[in-house]
This record gives sequence, C-alpha cells and structure tokens, in this order.
Amino acid sequence: MNMKRRDFNLRVAGAGLVGFWAGESLASDLIQTVEQTRGPFYPIPEIEKQEFFDIDLTRKDSNSPLAEGEIIVVRGNVLDLSSQPLEKVFVEVWQACHSGRYNHPNDRGESPLDPNFQYWGRMQTGQDGSFSFKTIQPGKYPGRTPHIHFRVVASGRKTLETQLYFEANQELNRKDGVYKSVSAEQQKGITMGLQPEPIDRKNPLSEKLMTGNFQIVLGPPSDSKSTPDM
Ligand SMILES: [Fe+2]
Repeated sequence: MNMKRRDFNLRVAGAGLVGFWAGESLASDLIQTVEQTRGPFYPIPEIEKQEFFDIDLTRKDSNSPLAEGEIIVVRGNVLDLSSQPLEKVFVEVWQACHSGRYNHPNDRGESPLDPNFQYWGRMQTGQDGSFSFKTIQPGKYPGRTPHIHFRVVASGRKTLETQLYFEANQELNRKDGVYKSVSAEQQKGITMGLQPEPIDRKNPLSEKLMTGNFQIVLGPPSDSKSTPDM
C-alpha cells in the first residue's frame, strides 16, 4: 500500500465520526447538494492517472516536503435523499494551491505553483458512504472566493459537480458570483466550518488539525441504466 495513503488512513481511522454523522442526519430534512460550475481547470487527463485513495494532497509522496498553506482534513459522506449512505461512489476533488493557482494549462495566473502540492485526488466511498482527504486551505484567486471542486459519480445517478466553500470566508463568499447564484439554503449545504480536532481522538494531547465535514446528498436514481463514466 502506498505509504502516504496508509499514514493518513491510520491518522483518521480513530475518528469514528462518519457513522455518527450519518445517523445524525436521519433526523434532518436533507436537501440535494446543489450543482456548481465545473470551472476551466478540471485536471483531465492527470486526475485519471492519479492513484486511487492517495488522499493526502499536502505532499507529493511520503518523503517529499509539505505544501505551503494551512493543512485541513475534509471528512464527508454521500447520502441519498432518504439519508441512506451510498457506497462505491467516486469522489474527485481538485483545487488551487496556497497561492491561488491551479496546476492546469488554462490557468494563466501569475501566482507561483507549489511544486509540493498534489492539486487533485480521487477516492471511492466506503460502506457507510464515507470519504476523507487531507489538503490545504485553497488560495484565493481573482474573481473567486476560496473553494474546492468536487465531481461525484454514482452508478445510475446524475453526476454531481459542485464546489465546497468555507464559513470563515463568508464576506468573500457573499461577493462570489457562483456562490451567490444559489439559494441561502443551498449555500448552507456547500459551506463548511472547520474545528480543531486531535489527530488521535484517544489522545487529547495529540497534534490538532482543522477538520470539517461535507455531507453530499445526491438526487434520486435516473431513469437510464447509466454507469459511472470514469
Ligand atoms: Fe475553481
């Protein structure tokens, strides 16, 4: 197993929160996660070459230097509208580095690329619909508030492309055209708070990472017998 993947899995495995989150959502009225634009920097074909479950974006491999920026952990789960977890859903993520630059030929910005940042990742949800990855707070770039792009592919359902935003950036979020294009309720579903959380939950003195939860709710199965297009 890739050492980077194993290391990160060990660090987050103790959390045991995903089942709790899924259970917690049973009492709430779920709303479908809203679509957001894909943007011009979807990393094809690079993301297809990326090893599955290499979910530590903060460095290229276990021996390479850390990327710049504040490290965060995003934990989430994929549910249907009746709160049932969806297993084996492909989740792709891509984002700008600390300076606000994408590693994509369409990004002609002048901010420097971070040679140590892994700009994308892909994973598959577990039996409880969970996924998680470690990354850095995305940088701000002209015209946009910081965000992480998601592409969520579930068998027999319409592919969801959306963006995840941060509560701490509400002032910037409110000025962002893509964010503003959806209702306040829909914005709430794609805006994540961060809390400091011990890496080892059994050891309160362990290092703390800023951690957030993103619950993704997919719409009903589509009529066509589609299969994931990846
Ligand atoms: Fe973007």
